[in-house]
Amino acid sequence: MCGIVGYIGPKNAVPIIMEGLKRLEYRGYDSAGIGCMIKGKLKVWKKEGQLANLEGILPEGLASNIGIGHTRWATHGGVTEANAHPQVGSRGKVSVVHNGIIDNYSALKKKLIGEGVAFTSETDTEALANLAEKFLGAGMAPDRAVRETLKLVSGTYGIVFLFTEHPDLIIGARNGSPLVVGVGDGEMFVASDANAIVRHTRQVVYLDDGETVVLTRDGFRTRDLRDAVVDKQVEEIDWVVEETGKNGYENYMLKEIFEQPEAVGRTFGGRLVPEFGTAKLGGLNLERRDFFDIRRVEIVAMGTAYHAGMIGSFLLESIARVPARAEIASELRCRNPIVEKETLYFVVSQSGETADTLLTLREIRNKGGRVMGVVNMVGSTMARESDGGVYIHAGPEMAVASTKAFTCQLMSFNLIALLFARMRDLSLAEGRALVREIQEIPDKMRRVLDQAEEIARIARKYKNAQSFLYLGRGPNYPVALEGALKLKEIAYIFSEGMSAGDVKHGPIALVSEETPVVMIAVKGDNLDKTISGMMEINARKGRIIVVTNVDDERITRIAEDVIRIPETRESLSPLLTVIPLQLLAYYIAVELQRDVDRPRNLAKSVTVE
Ligand code: M6R
Repeated sequence: MCGIVGYIGPKNAVPIIMEGLKRLEYRGYDSAGIGCMIKGKLKVWKKEGQLANLEGILPEGLASNIGIGHTRWATHGGVTEANAHPQVGSRGKVSVVHNGIIDNYSALKKKLIGEGVAFTSETDTEALANLAEKFLGAGMAPDRAVRETLKLVSGTYGIVFLFTEHPDLIIGARNGSPLVVGVGDGEMFVASDANAIVRHTRQVVYLDDGETVVLTRDGFRTRDLRDAVVDKQVEEIDWVVEETGKNGYENYMLKEIFEQPEAVGRTFGGRLVPEFGTAKLGGLNLERRDFFDIRRVEIVAMGTAYHAGMIGSFLLESIARVPARAEIASELRCRNPIVEKETLYFVVSQSGETADTLLTLREIRNKGGRVMGVVNMVGSTMARESDGGVYIHAGPEMAVASTKAFTCQLMSFNLIALLFARMRDLSLAEGRALVREIQEIPDKMRRVLDQAEEIARIARKYKNAQSFLYLGRGPNYPVALEGALKLKEIAYIFSEGMSAGDVKHGPIALVSEETPVVMIAVKGDNLDKTISGMMEINARKGRIIVVTNVDDERITRIAEDVIRIPETRESLSPLLTVIPLQLLAYYIAVELQRDVDRPRNLAKSVTVE
C-alpha cells in the first residue's frame, strides 16, 4: 500500500528518498510526492502515476539535507496531484506524509474550516497538517504540536511530519500502520518498511502503536502521546537484502512464479528431520508437551494467504487429525471471536502488515489466545506481535499478485502438519515417506514450469473469454479459488472458483460454450467424483481445461486441453496444481496487455481495514 521514506543528515536526501520509494513501489500506489527544505523554504513536488512521472518533474541537481517522500494508494479522494502527499498545511509550515485512514477527519476538517482554514485536497491527511500548524501557531514546540494533533485523531497512521521553521528535525508517529527508524552515523532515516532504508543502515527501531519519534541528525527520541519517554531497543537487521531486480524476466510475477522451486526449498531447508520422519520448527516456541493440550487449530488470513490457510486446515485435519478450520480474518472479527485455551491460532500473511489479519491477531491475543505467525516479511508487525511462528522464507515478493508466497505458505503448513502428525498418530515410516515426498517437490515444480509454453498456448486460445470457472475438490478446492483470484486480479476477467462438488447446486447454470472451466483432477480419494463432475460440465457443452496427474481415458476424451503435472500425494498436490493456474492467469494477462505486476486498483499490502 502507501509508502513513506524520510531522511535527515549530511547527504542529499532526494536520491535516498527516491530510491527508497522505488523499493516500496511493488506495494502498489497511484501517485507519489516528495517534500524537502531548500534554502529555508519548503518545496514540494507531486505527480499522479508512476514514480518515473515524479522523477520527470524534479529539477536537475535538486539537493537537500532533509526531506520526506510518499507513494499514495488512494483512499480518501481520487488519484490527483492535489490529493498526493506530502499534504501541506494552509500556512505552508507543516508538511505530512501519511499511511492509514483518519476516521474522524471530516469532523476535524469541518472545525478547522469554521476557524478559517482553507483546504485544497479531499484527503483525510490534510486535516492533520492543518491541526499541527494550528498548535504550532499557538506557540507549541513541534513535538508537542504533533502529540496534541494525534490526541484528537481516531484512526490509523504511520505518519511523518516536516516543519518549515524547524529544518533540523523530522517527527514520526505510529498507530496501526508500520513505521521504522533507521539509525545512521550522523544521519537518520524513517520509513514505512525497513526494505526502503536497509541499504543505508541495518540499525533500526520499530515504533509501536501510540509512539512518536523525533529525529535529528544525531539521534532520535521516542515518547508516547502523553509525553512519557519510551525506551526503545535499536535492533540489527539480520536478513540479507535480496536482489529485487527482475533477473532477466519480463516482470516480477513471472520471475516469482519461476522462483518457486528454490523458494519452497528454502521453506523446508534445515527443517526436515528425515531420521525421525518429522519437521523441526523452533520458531513455534512449543514444548513437546504443549502439543497434548492443543485440541484444535484456527487459521486466519486474507486473500491468497487465506487460501493457503484453507489448505493448511485440510492438512492439519487429514494428516495430523487435529480439528482445524480457516477463516477470513475480517469476517472472524465481525463475529467477536470466541477464543479458547485449547485452540492454537495461526495468522498467515506475506507482508505481515495486512490490517484485517493484524487486528484479528491482536483481538485473539488480547483475549488470551496463543497466536503463531506464518509470515514472509522478517521483522513485520505480525512477526513481532505473535507468540511464535514460521518464517516462510519466500524472499521478497514484488508483484502484487502473490505466487511464491502462496506455495511457501503451503509448504510451511505441510511442515506444521507433519510435526503435529508425528506428535500424534503418524508412524515413523509414514513420516519418513512424507519427508521424502516433500523433498521431491522442488524438482516436480520444475517439471510443471517446463510446460510454460504449452500453457501460454492455452492462454492465447481462451484469452477473449468473458468469464472462467475453476473447480477443485479437497485440498484443490482452495487452489480453484486461488486460480480464479489470480485471473481476476491481473487479467480483470470475471472468474469464480468453487468446489467441484457444489457446482451442480446452482452455478452449473453458468456453464456454456462461452465459459471455459478449469478443473483440477488429481490422484486420490476425490478423483472419481471429480471426473463425474467433469462429465456433467461436458454434457452442458462446457470447454474443459484440466490440470491432472493421472492418465485417464475419461479425462482425455472430454477435456479440450490437458495440462499434465507429476504425481504426488493429494495433500502435497496443491504445490503443483497451482502453478499452471498462475501461469494461465499470467499469460492471459500478458495477451490482454495488462500491467501484470501492478494491476489496477490493487496494492501489495492492504494496511487499512
Ligand atoms: O500480505 P498478506 O499475505 O497478508 O496479503 C493478503 C492479501 O491481501 C493478498 O494475499 C492478496 O489477496 C494478493 N494480492 C493476492 O494475490
